[in-house]
Amino acid sequence: MSSNPVTAIIVGGGHRAFTYAELALQSPEKLKIVGIADPNPFRCEKARKTFGFPKENCFSSAEELAAVPKFADAIINGTMDHQHFETAVPLLKCGYDMLLEKPFVVNMQELDELVDIVKEHGNRVMICHVLRYTPFYLAIKERILAGEIGDIISINMSEHVSYHHASTSYVRGKWGNSDICKTPMLLAKCCHDMDIMMWLMGDIKPKTVSSCGSIFQYKPEMAPEGAGTKCLVDCPHVNTCLYSAKRIYIDNPDRWEFYVWSALEDMENATIEDKINLLKGDSPYGKCIYKSGNNVVDHQSVMVNFENGATGTHNMIGGASRPLRRIEIVGTKGEIFGEFEHNDIHVLKINPDPGKEFDEEIIDLSAFCEGGGHGGGDLGLAEDFVNFIRGEKPSVSCTTIFDSVTGHKSIFLAEESRLNGSKAVEY
Ligand SMILES: NC(=O)c1ccc[n+]([C@@H]2O[C@H](COP(=O)([O-])OP(=O)(O)OC[C@H]3O[C@@H](n4cnc5c(N)ncnc54)[C@H](O)[C@@H]3O)[C@@H](O)[C@H]2O)c1
Repeated sequence: MSSNPVTAIIVGGGHRAFTYAELALQSPEKLKIVGIADPNPFRCEKARKTFGFPKENCFSSAEELAAVPKFADAIINGTMDHQHFETAVPLLKCGYDMLLEKPFVVNMQELDELVDIVKEHGNRVMICHVLRYTPFYLAIKERILAGEIGDIISINMSEHVSYHHASTSYVRGKWGNSDICKTPMLLAKCCHDMDIMMWLMGDIKPKTVSSCGSIFQYKPEMAPEGAGTKCLVDCPHVNTCLYSAKRIYIDNPDRWEFYVWSALEDMENATIEDKINLLKGDSPYGKCIYKSGNNVVDHQSVMVNFENGATGTHNMIGGASRPLRRIEIVGTKGEIFGEFEHNDIHVLKINPDPGKEFDEEIIDLSAFCEGGGHGGGDLGLAEDFVNFIRGEKPSVSCTTIFDSVTGHKSIFLAEESRLNGSKAVEY
């Protein structure tokens, strides 16, 4: 293994990029952050102080960075979804390798173009499908690769988005309106899940994809009678509504703080009064959830028919009491099922021996969860990225841009189907 750390420049110094860059603080022998490009001067200065690089390595945009000679191995691209394409292209053309956040593009045309650019320039590009690195999904993949349940007949997945997560990210938040963020709910939230489905299916590609979904509850006609427009300003339900901004954010001020209080991030010690005033003002998190200007679905189902006749379903439901990811895989020799939040999987194998029906093994994975975001997936992915850049043997989880195409494409097709009366769309 090389003794020099991989050098990287942050492009888009928000919450996600800093999460991966954390590896440089924990394991400086693996990763060194040597610069940043971000139009936000506060974020540039924060990165400079955290990672200790000179002022001349701060740039105000990806484009400005691309205009100077290459001075690092790689880019950690944590810009917003619709900026991935425009920020990645000039830097890939400079020859940088890249850790690129998901979704790596927001439509099929961008996908085709970006993949072609990567092929032409030979960059190593990895997409941040962090769930592949969690002990839960990795254990499932390993059991399937070992042939324990035979050939997959069906994969059924469900994902419950908690009420406060739905509120913060997908109704009031940055991914609430696809006309602005360019990302439909399925792409923003279930990019990981569709990637997992495709990863588990290996080389077997979808034949058709269909989908339905809508806004069931976060719309004006579902608001309680007499509801105002801003919870802390004009709403009589401020102390009782399940989605009251007071109850979700002021009474739980640490919840989703990097989104809700990002407008206060340059204040040294924001007080609760500062936060109340923010929610009383222009903050989207202070709006009535039923009148937020959102247009993304709050529940959606996807059905995939694979080329070998296997089937896959994914059901996303927003507004549940707790987050949940459940998976059930049925193969020709047995089943695997489990809930991500429980950190164990059940492996059942058909056993026709006298007095038997099946054998069951319950695998407790909690001992392997080292903590950190996404069940330890965030840092696991950052470490694998370093290995990938060094040209070491990729892990079974490694998700290059090429590995990520099928998951993203199946989402674009699902959305096309949903918008066209749920008609199945050919892959
Ligand atoms: N992998 C995951 O599990 C996961 C989880 C959450 C979010 N995400 C994704 O991570 C990405 C980043 O999300 P976030 O919440 O950290 O975003 P953010 O808004 O906090 O950060 C984006 C940054 O990009 C900067 N920026 C804007 N234009 C730029 C340009 N031209 N050049 C350089 N920088 C520019 C902005 O100033 C901002 O600081 C999104 O694509 C999101 O969907 C992934």
